[in-house]
Amino acid sequence: MNLRFGCLQDRVMRAASLLGASTVRGLHPGASSSRDVTVRTVRGAAHPRAAASVDETGGADSSGANVGAKSKRAPTAAERKGSWRLGAAPGRRQGSAVERRALETASTTASTSAPSWKDEPAIGALELDEAHLPRHVAVIMDGNGRWATERGVAVAEGHERGVDTLRTIVRCAGAWDLSALTVYAFSHENWRRSRNEVDHLMNLLERTLVAELPSLVEEGVKVTVMGDMGMIDDGLRAAITNAVDATAANTKLRLNVALAYGARQDIVAAARMLATEAAGGLLDPEDITEDLLGEHLASRTLPADLREPDLLVRPGGERRVSNFLLWELAYTELYFADVMWPEFGEEDFAAALGWYAGRQRRFGARG
Ligand code: FPP
Repeated sequence: MNLRFGCLQDRVMRAASLLGASTVRGLHPGASSSRDVTVRTVRGAAHPRAAASVDETGGADSSGANVGAKSKRAPTAAERKGSWRLGAAPGRRQGSAVERRALETASTTASTSAPSWKDEPAIGALELDEAHLPRHVAVIMDGNGRWATERGVAVAEGHERGVDTLRTIVRCAGAWDLSALTVYAFSHENWRRSRNEVDHLMNLLERTLVAELPSLVEEGVKVTVMGDMGMIDDGLRAAITNAVDATAANTKLRLNVALAYGARQDIVAAARMLATEAAGGLLDPEDITEDLLGEHLASRTLPADLREPDLLVRPGGERRVSNFLLWELAYTELYFADVMWPEFGEEDFAAALGWYAGRQRRFGARG
């Protein structure tokens, strides 16, 4: 009897009952079956996807790269709440005085509490229902602002802590053998925020990509970015290009970052491309299919069989999808949690996966 497993299962069941429930365009253009309704754990069985991942073209790739060395030690509280290694990129704007102070505070704590990529999650893959794990999880990282406001600190501090959570979730996704994680880092609508907040977020994205790139490379994470790259500045664009290129051969986990992204704008752009092709006589409108439209969406950064997330996780208390992957979410299971993103941890992520394991996916068909 594994007590830790017992605790996890309790948490998962509790959560389930409570819930009731391009790459940068141009940089890397790039089925599920019904599920049992029982939440169960397979112990000791080989993971069905452990030895194979799927490349851009849908072919099998037998790379056996692993995320981190196995360790039974649970991350300390400091590690769970630790900061990314911080360091302002040269020549970048730093936002308001209060945001600068938040950055300085975060920078000070970073040197002592940065969690290591080598620390395995306390919850091991074998404690989850491996046979029913999602392959692709999409995440709306919501609640940074409210988390900060509740604590009387600058919103910038909330975003900084949000990056810490992201690292935890990436580590879990790797350790638990998920195939893809798409995270909503900056929406088309986020451009309406104050200049200071936008500048800070752009700076944070750039710093994070630069600082974490060696770990992402080492841990086998393949970075792709989807969104309107025409909207971002040269420094961030260069950091993205560098991260995408440096991780292009990785096969362990895809980290797909939605940045300057909006699903409606994406669908409009795809419609324009198809209309242009049709107007030029290159395409018969009768030949426009769901698959063809999908090929024109920003999610073509992912292989065709991975584009539709199996599970969407949204912490932060809201129950909406907010212009995120509207086409791709058609049959995605939606999981909402009240915890704010900076507080969202490994157990919360495991609870979401446990809830997903109990869903019966029918894709419109009968049982
Ligand atoms: C939403 O919280 C969060 C964001 C707009 C930014 C999230 C971005 C990160 C955590 C950086 C990720 C970094 C990389 C490299 C992918 P909110 O401010 O809308 O929260 P609120 O609803 O409480 O105001």
